[in-house]
Amino acid sequence: ADTLGAAAAGQGRYFGAAVAANHLGEAQYAATLNREFNSVTPENEMKWDAVEPNRGSFSFSRADQIVNHARGQGMKVRGHTLVWHSQLPGWVSGLAASDLRSAMNNHITQVMTHYKGNIDSWDVVNEAFQDGGSGARRSSPFQDKLGNGFIEEAFRTARATDPAAKLCYNDYNTDGVNAKSTAVYNMVKDFKARGVPIDCVGFQSHFNPNSPVPSDYRANLQRFADLGVDVQITELDIEGSGQAQATNYGNVVRACLAVSRCTGLTVWGIPDKYSWRASGTPLLFDDNYNKKPAYTAALSALGGT
Ligand code: G3I
Repeated sequence: ADTLGAAAAGQGRYFGAAVAANHLGEAQYAATLNREFNSVTPENEMKWDAVEPNRGSFSFSRADQIVNHARGQGMKVRGHTLVWHSQLPGWVSGLAASDLRSAMNNHITQVMTHYKGNIDSWDVVNEAFQDGGSGARRSSPFQDKLGNGFIEEAFRTARATDPAAKLCYNDYNTDGVNAKSTAVYNMVKDFKARGVPIDCVGFQSHFNPNSPVPSDYRANLQRFADLGVDVQITELDIEGSGQAQATNYGNVVRACLAVSRCTGLTVWGIPDKYSWRASGTPLLFDDNYNKKPAYTAALSALGGT
C-alpha cells in the first residue's frame, strides 16, 4: 500500500484527518485528503457554537459539506463533539440546571439524528477532566450545574438516539499513565460495571517538547482496552521536524498497532499551514503538500511503502 489509508486498512485500522470546510475548495487540499485518508473529523464545524448558535435553531450546512465530501469518497466520519465546555454559545452557559439538562439532551438528539447512519464514532463528551494531579472534573456549565452525572446522562441520551454509532469519551494529556488518565480510566471502569453505554475512548495526542510521546503510551492504551472499550488516537500532532519528528510519529503508529482494540488514528490537520498550532510544523505534509519524513515514518510503521 502506498497511502496512509490503504496501509492502515491493511492493518484493520483507519487513518483519518481533521478537515475544515473552508479548505475543501483548495485543489491540493482535497486531492491529498482523497488520496491519503479514509476517515475525517470536522475540525470545528460540528461543535455546539457552529450547529446550534441559538437555542433550537440548527445550522448544519458547513458540517454537511464535510460529511457529504467524506461519504462521497467512502470515508468514515468521526463526530466531534456533542458536549464540551469550549466553543459553547453564550445562551447555553446562561441556563439554569433543569433548562440546561433539556438543552443538552435536545442538542445531542437533534445533532445525532441529523447525521444518523453517517457517523462511525461520536465524541459524546470532550475534555471533562482537569489537568494536574487532582483527578477532578473540570468546572463547566455542565459540571457546575448538573454535577458528575452529566457525562452518564449524555452517553445514555446518545445511545438512545443512534444505537449504531460508537460512543467515545475524548480528552488530552491522558495519553500516558497519569492522574488525569487514571481518573478517566476509573470513570470508564465504573460505566462498564454499571452498564452505562460507552464504546471507545479517544486519546487526543497533541505532543510537543513539553508534552512528549509518553514512554507508557502503549501500556496506557492497553489498560483502557482491557476495560472492554475500543481506543482511538483522535487528534494527533507532534511538534518538531525532520528525523526526530518522524521517529515520534512511527512510535505512535506502532503503539496503536500493538493494541488490538486501537481501531484507528486521526491527525489534526493535513498541511502544516492549517494546523491550529499557528507557528508550528506538527503535521505530515508541508505547506506545499509534500510528504515530510514524518509521513514516510507513519506509512512505513503501517507496513506501507
Ligand atoms: O470562525 C471564526 C471566524 O468567523 C472569526 O472571524 C475568527 C476570528 O478569531 O475565528 C474563527 O473561529 C476560530 C475557529 O477555530 C475556526 O477557525 C476560533 O477563533 C479558534 O479559536 C478556533 O480554534 C479551534 C480550537 O479547537 C478552538 O478550541 C481550532 O481550529 C481547532 O483545531 C481546535 O481543536 C481542538 C479540538 O476541538 C479539541 N481538542 C483540542 C484541539 C486543539 O485545540
